Amino acid sequence: MPAHSPSTEATSAQAVLSNPSLISRAAQSAAEQIAQAWPSRPRFGIILGTGAGQLAGAIDREATFPYANFAGFPHSTALGHAGQFVCGQLQGQPVIALHGRFHLYEGYRVDQSTLGVQTMAALGIQYLLVSNAAGGINPKFRSGEVMLITSHIDLMFRPLPAMETCSSGLRPELRGDAAYDRELITQAEACARRHHFAVHRGTYCGLLGPNYETRSEYRFLRRIGGDTVGMSTVPEVRLAARLGLRVLGLSVVTNVARPDALDPTSGQEVIDAAQVASPCLRALFENAVAVNS
Ligand code: HPA
Repeated sequence: MPAHSPSTEATSAQAVLSNPSLISRAAQSAAEQIAQAWPSRPRFGIILGTGAGQLAGAIDREATFPYANFAGFPHSTALGHAGQFVCGQLQGQPVIALHGRFHLYEGYRVDQSTLGVQTMAALGIQYLLVSNAAGGINPKFRSGEVMLITSHIDLMFRPLPAMETCSSGLRPELRGDAAYDRELITQAEACARRHHFAVHRGTYCGLLGPNYETRSEYRFLRRIGGDTVGMSTVPEVRLAARLGLRVLGLSVVTNVARPDALDPTSGQEVIDAAQVASPCLRALFENAVAVNS
């Protein structure tokens, strides 16, 4: 049975319509160009994090759109990231995926780093499935495991600029963790059980980066309640929450921080570990699409 309720989707559509300022002109125009070239109307948007490129291969591709084709879009430069929208079918449903994202540590503003989500929202997605590579700060976590994000700690300290100037003036945002949909989390746990792999639940700490943390910072993040740490996802999820999208957020643990015996973390190690988890990510994302269609 579809797990989404019509009222949730009406709220999502109304959120976009009554908040046109949430979606920039650049994103609106990119969405129009995509809609002209690709006739499907996706309900699912996917953000492929570091090392999850393989997952892009699971999508039965119908069209790709390099970000560089769109006016006002920056170029993605981070290690392991391509930089295009991938459109096609997953589990027989139309989906649009971001292969490559814009990180704040690359110098982009929040409105730029969320252009992909804005574009997918303008195309009408109702679900955002997002993955990231992250350091494990919960000592029970192991490299290559997946954590279902139930909440985040925003240590980026960046407002969502366009959102603050709606016609009604300054408005507080919704509580951030309201975006992480409980039903999607429960469905993901059931999927992991069926496929015999472990998933954790926990809190993602979003930092600006680009450096990995010092041992003192890892200790601090653990003390304040973090389970994983990374440099993405938080701006995208905050925007998704404002748009009324239902979010499934996954952290792939690529290195476990042991502050008292800290090994250096390299970008390549992170990519390699993320690829180990790729079949799990694929199963979880495919399940989210199949169960909610
Ligand atoms: N810290 C921050 N970001 C990361 C890490 C980490 O340890 N691993 C992968 N992304």
